[in-house]
Amino acid sequence: MSAIILEGVSKRFGDHLATDNIDLVIPNGRFTVFVGPSGCGKTTLLRLIAGLEDIDEGRLLIDDVDMARTAPAARGLAMVFQSYALYPHMTVRDNLGFALKVAHAPKTEIADRVGTVAKMLDLDRLLDRKPAALSGGQRQRVAIGRALVRQPRAFLFDEPLSNLDAALRGQMRFEIRRLQQELGITAVYVTHDQAEAMTMADQIVVFRNGRIEQVGTPLDIYRRPANLFVAGFIGSPRMNFLIGPPAAAHGAATIGIRPEHLKIADSGMLEGVVRTVEHLGNEALIHAELPDGPMLTARCSEDVSTHPGEAISFSVDPASIHRFDDDGRARATN
Ligand SMILES: Nc1ncnc2c1ncn2[C@@H]1O[C@H](COP(=O)(O)OP(=O)(O)O)[C@@H](O)[C@H]1O
Ligand SMILES: [Mg+2]
Repeated sequence: MSAIILEGVSKRFGDHLATDNIDLVIPNGRFTVFVGPSGCGKTTLLRLIAGLEDIDEGRLLIDDVDMARTAPAARGLAMVFQSYALYPHMTVRDNLGFALKVAHAPKTEIADRVGTVAKMLDLDRLLDRKPAALSGGQRQRVAIGRALVRQPRAFLFDEPLSNLDAALRGQMRFEIRRLQQELGITAVYVTHDQAEAMTMADQIVVFRNGRIEQVGTPLDIYRRPANLFVAGFIGSPRMNFLIGPPAAAHGAATIGIRPEHLKIADSGMLEGVVRTVEHLGNEALIHAELPDGPMLTARCSEDVSTHPGEAISFSVDPASIHRFDDDGRARATN
């Protein structure tokens, strides 16, 4: 399995810098997720790794070998896209075996590898069907299987689950992760969905405007976001941000408080008026307005009894408050 190393990698489209001087280690056998808003350069970086785009500046190493002059097919990487791009006129079996057939692999070897992969992905009963007769999740499994059959040294996924409904997406996340762990294969997975990043990754890389904002484990990033952007991007509902006197009281330009860290109290640090209460069944979200206008979202237990228009007060454990400087960078201590 393979470590992928990026050193000062930049890519321009016209005068737009799509990836800007990226330094990154993608560890061997681990699941790395690129996350960030649309247009931040995730796909571009994945395509640079795959060799589908040329790097303008910097180096790309796979297993310590510089890949600049290596054709995409020779890099040993397999890419899975959002659109499954299956061959509609071929059966699942032929779709799975296609790359091997093109490479003139012996028939018995093709049958063997297709069989193994089909079993792994629970596709064995579907081998004679055509893509039109499959569900979205099954098609996506065939797309993954097609990549697996080639025994790549790393997997590159670009938003592979975006076309699926929420329940199926949850299941497929779990399946992709299980497969990656079983095989111990290096994976890079692109998504704009922070929940997907949090649930799947060993290592998250948060991007904005072609640059890396932070690299870390999901919990690192959730607990110690490096700046306001990461703090606001990771976590749902979003972190609450306050400026002015409440922030100054903590020696910061801005403070951030996660919704789960606001506790309803008789006379707490923050007092406001309840505007809406969302009952989600397992928890309730209270949206309250502070006297000078900002809104707060608090995550509470479902048995909370408060209503729009009522006064409410929250306490916060000071240790859970995130403090940010004028330039948006997190201050030490949390
Ligand atoms: N082939 C291209 N030609 C011109 N601009 C491109 C091309 N590919 C991507 N871009 C631009 O580069 C930026 C990053 O795009 P992309 O990597 O697709 O972002 P993401 O995958 O994070 O949504 C965007 O502003 C996009 O419009
Ligand atoms: Mg993209």
